[in-house]
Amino acid sequence: MTASFSMFSSLKDKIAAREARVVTVGLGYVGLPLALTINECGFPVTGFDLNAARVAAINAGERVISYFAEDRIARARAGGRFGASSDPAVLAAADIVLICVPTPLSTEREPDLSYVVRAAETVAAQLRPGQLVVLESTVWPGATATVVKPILERGGLRAGTDFFLGFSPEREDPGNATFDTKSIPKVVGADDAQSRELLDRFYSQVVARTVPVSSLATAEAVKLAENSFRTVNIALVNEMKVAMEAMGVDVWEVVQAAATKPFGYMPFYPGPGIGGDCIPVSPVYLSWRARDVGSSLPIVDLARHNNDTAPDRIAGRVIAEIAARSGQGAEGARVLILGVSYKKNIEDTRESPALAILNRLEAMGAACDYHDPYFPVMPPTRDHPGLAGRRSAALTEAGVAGYDAVLVTTDHSGVDYDLVGRAARLLLDTRNTYAGRPAPAGAYVKI
Ligand SMILES: NC(=O)c1ccc[n+]([C@@H]2O[C@H](COP(=O)([O-])OP(=O)(O)OC[C@H]3O[C@@H](n4cnc5c(N)ncnc54)[C@H](O)[C@@H]3O)[C@@H](O)[C@H]2O)c1
Repeated sequence: MTASFSMFSSLKDKIAAREARVVTVGLGYVGLPLALTINECGFPVTGFDLNAARVAAINAGERVISYFAEDRIARARAGGRFGASSDPAVLAAADIVLICVPTPLSTEREPDLSYVVRAAETVAAQLRPGQLVVLESTVWPGATATVVKPILERGGLRAGTDFFLGFSPEREDPGNATFDTKSIPKVVGADDAQSRELLDRFYSQVVARTVPVSSLATAEAVKLAENSFRTVNIALVNEMKVAMEAMGVDVWEVVQAAATKPFGYMPFYPGPGIGGDCIPVSPVYLSWRARDVGSSLPIVDLARHNNDTAPDRIAGRVIAEIAARSGQGAEGARVLILGVSYKKNIEDTRESPALAILNRLEAMGAACDYHDPYFPVMPPTRDHPGLAGRRSAALTEAGVAGYDAVLVTTDHSGVDYDLVGRAARLLLDTRNTYAGRPAPAGAYVKI
């Protein structure tokens, strides 16, 4: 059964005229850039978020995300067709609803769809015939059809008949100066032809290129395949780092040289472990779903294990390097952690390996401070609640010289690495930050 032709063509016309009213559910790292990009393409957009403080800041035109252009939100507000709200009633007026809420791991390290379920319930309560609902959050293949769709249909409307339903994975890379929401091709999937066509027509107005796929589950699986590919390759290069160091070979130099091969190779660089809410999370969703359908992904699982244990290996190495130089054991060793964001130049500590290393070092008896220009005060995090409220240490020569070791965990720009290089008694670098910079002779180790 297909939806009534008039509903379908009415939404198609509104999309073509850029008059379809769009509501994004969730105004985080994904939902907010998406909402702004859609608005910048001419559509009227309202962002719906439960976080009233964030809604107020956005409506006041504040920058909110550090790598946004200073006046991006203010310009959207001034245009008169962009705003934020915590009132679910805005959903009733929408033609298109895009759900961009978190999909983290539970405390048992399993998929946690509770935010998606709650968002779907809110959308369901306002659902009206002819709306297009799209899930953008990362989920396991099958979740839109078996978790979200039944919630939306609770009021009696049917997907593909009374309303349209799609999945389009978000590929946002916060802080990436080369690719933004608009220039990253967008995969769009649906289980019926009309939903797929509407999805395709809508995103074609917003992004450079769309990639239609045959089903909701295929579109869901694309995202997990992309991130699992990264997970496996990061584990591989971190494993090679250890083996090549024993061979007297610098893996960073190897990767840079290998990357000159014009085909069949893609560079991945070693680091302190993996962070963010994507790379550590997606493979868990994929693996969980594989088990659910009686299959398995041992290579992905091994890579996950390798990545999950990377912070422990780094912490152990820090203590070993200190002991080898000064005889100082873990107990009472003083370590400065340089950078707590999970990656450079963004203010995000979700799943950050730096925090796991810090915690591990302290569990071993060391005393740690951190320095991070993005976090003058440590924010609350789900995995490391005890660290909240700590303050970033000032970066002075005398201060740096007081530590047994400085460990570079995040290579933010704007940090005075030369000062650290001059003053550190022992400088341990997980990011190859000192390539091309002066490092203390005999006291610098890439780990
Ligand atoms: N951050 C990334 O780099 C990235 C990249 C690609 C995909 N994703 C995926 O996109 C999704 C969203 O991630 P994010 O980084 O934007 O999360 P986020 O934590 O930055 O933002 C989520 C927002 O949703 C709001 N929210 C939560 N529940 C809500 C509800 N029921 N109704 C309305 N608002 C609600 C929160 O208040 C928050 O502002 C996740 O599935 C994630 O895996 C994230």
